[in-house]
Amino acid sequence: MSEGESRRDYLTTKYLEYQKQYAGNLRESDKVLIALIKETMSNYPKKNHRLLEVGCSSGNLILHLKKALPMVEFHGIDLFPEIIEVSKSNPDLSDVIFNVMDVRNLTYQDKFDFIVMNAVLSYFKGDELNLVISNVARVTDSGGWLFAFSPLNPFEQEIHIIEISTAHPREAIFNFHSYLTMEKLLRNHGFANLEFRPFSIPIDLDGGNDFRDLKTYTIRTAQGERLNFRGSLFQPWCHLKARKE
Ligand SMILES: C[S@@+](CC[C@H](N)C(=O)[O-])C[C@H]1O[C@@H](n2cnc3c(N)ncnc32)[C@H](O)[C@@H]1O
Repeated sequence: MSEGESRRDYLTTKYLEYQKQYAGNLRESDKVLIALIKETMSNYPKKNHRLLEVGCSSGNLILHLKKALPMVEFHGIDLFPEIIEVSKSNPDLSDVIFNVMDVRNLTYQDKFDFIVMNAVLSYFKGDELNLVISNVARVTDSGGWLFAFSPLNPFEQEIHIIEISTAHPREAIFNFHSYLTMEKLLRNHGFANLEFRPFSIPIDLDGGNDFRDLKTYTIRTAQGERLNFRGSLFQPWCHLKARKE
């Protein structure tokens, strides 16, 4: 099984299972993201907003966004047809326009006011990341906004991780980008007004005692801040927003 096949296997099975627990109940990071989008939208001049979620999985985040933003037209894309089938079969998402599409080959000719990339940026690095940002920039309307949530770090440090675990028995590659990399790329592709908001989770997460079962858990610092870990890996989750000029 190749890296791509192994990732597909995980995303179309275990990740969809994980998503189910958040169908009725928002993740803490989604609460922050939705508040950020709502606040930005309230200052946005256009009335008929169109929002595209890139890498929408089962459409869970769109479900919650829909409740918070009832006047918005929602679109979702994902790389894998079997995932889009799950989204399309959800009656609560019948008014959402879903497409199987690769963000590296975005074929939309029309533009969106808001683009959301939640837990997606870390799949790409180098030329591929440049292509992704260029594609996203092309379909973001002038004055529109990109929102992302990804492990991003304030150091001048690009981190490429190869994980082999029960979740990813073959290699899975994750890229933790620096603010600087993201800033350069976004500016090159016409984005401005960048804001990085490191995510501080307000609740303790218990990873359990089965160390083979890689769960996300938190550790408190002496200052009381909660650091987010998955296995041995610290994940500097961060929200990012940027405005297309
Ligand atoms: C970790 S999941 C995040 C799902 C969702 N955004 C959320 O917040 O729960 C990443 C999703 O991105 C999709 N994805 C990965 N590579 C992609 C690509 N090149 N184009 C479009 N979607 C992609 C995956 O299939 C998966 O559903």
